[in-house]
Amino acid sequence: MITRGDIARIGARLAERAGDDPPAVYDIRIDTCGLEACDDPARLRHAQHQALFRAYQGRYVLLPSADGPGSIVERLNRHYDPEEMGRLEAMRSGLEAELIGPLMAKAAERAADLDIETYVAGLLPELRGAAGNPFLDFLADHPERAHHYRNFLIQSSADLLAEASASALGVVGEFGAPQSALFRILIDEFGYGVHGKKHSVLYRATLRDFGLCDEYNAYWPLFDTASLELHNAIHHLFQNPRNFFAQIGFLLFAETSYQRSTAQHFRYLSRFHPGVDARYFGEHAHIDLHHTAMVTDEVVGPLVARFGAEVGREIVKGAELTRAVFDRAGSHMLAVSEAFDAAAAQGLATYGVPEAGGPPGRCVTPATARDGRVQVGGLGVLTEARAFAVFPPDAIGREA
Ligand SMILES: [Fe+2]
Ligand SMILES: [Fe+2]
Repeated sequence: MITRGDIARIGARLAERAGDDPPAVYDIRIDTCGLEACDDPARLRHAQHQALFRAYQGRYVLLPSADGPGSIVERLNRHYDPEEMGRLEAMRSGLEAELIGPLMAKAAERAADLDIETYVAGLLPELRGAAGNPFLDFLADHPERAHHYRNFLIQSSADLLAEASASALGVVGEFGAPQSALFRILIDEFGYGVHGKKHSVLYRATLRDFGLCDEYNAYWPLFDTASLELHNAIHHLFQNPRNFFAQIGFLLFAETSYQRSTAQHFRYLSRFHPGVDARYFGEHAHIDLHHTAMVTDEVVGPLVARFGAEVGREIVKGAELTRAVFDRAGSHMLAVSEAFDAAAAQGLATYGVPEAGGPPGRCVTPATARDGRVQVGGLGVLTEARAFAVFPPDAIGREA
């Protein structure tokens, strides 16, 4: 069990390593202010997810988009200091066991009854046949849709502004022909080496057109626990080679569901925000048709043929874990949107673009918000903290 004291101690080390006013990409602070005296389990869980998020982020190269003051070499030495990273790394398996372990166990239970051939054959028709998209349906007649969509972009940015950096970790090594199929998918994610076509770069363009900062990690103080859980579940798979077959399950589910959801988002943006750069979604609606076929035919099929049903169950487990965290992040975001609308209807909230950078306000949950104004994700500000009390218990706000 990773306690509040453990999180508070590692949080102090992370804050010291980040220093005052760090560039967003090196801002590794987590929310420990008042944590030790706070008995709200939602606050602890959020801070635990932030710590795990920081552990995973330390595994790949990040450079700020603009030159800052001081030496970049010194900054890298400090940000990637192996001893300091080792302190956080020492907590990683404990955090994974506590935060992701139960989700993996549930996914394994579901996978136990499913055989891979039936699962693969049914997944695409099932996802294609699903009714609508609850979030986009919610926006269709909504006068404040741009604010809700902006929050969706922010929550998704935890993962998408470094899209495929997690799955890149699953491609290194030496494991036969499926490795080369995975590598071809990976290079598509990286725009086939053309920087302007890299998926994370396309995503940046959409963010900018909604008036948002496009720097990686710029909005970390606004990430809900469910968004961090989605990010961390993906990284848990890819940053642990023991989960190799479950990684394939992630790709199977993500590519299959993305081909449909991105087409829906592309149509939504074209209709309601026609001036916005929607290439990120248009590109996925096209290329993920191919990626689904590549994962199915060149990776899942050969691996199951070679290693048998045991591997099939691992693949289904990874896919079902992915389904669970996608569903959870999506339904949580919608619940927060609805709660914010209800507050606005009572005159207790104003929609607006959040500020990026600067010192984040104190992190609060519905159980702990006491006074002042509360920023809720990318939606806007509650003008009275009491309005936050009726939000989902694990919603995250910032005293504004
Ligand atoms: Fe992509
Ligand atoms: Fe893809």
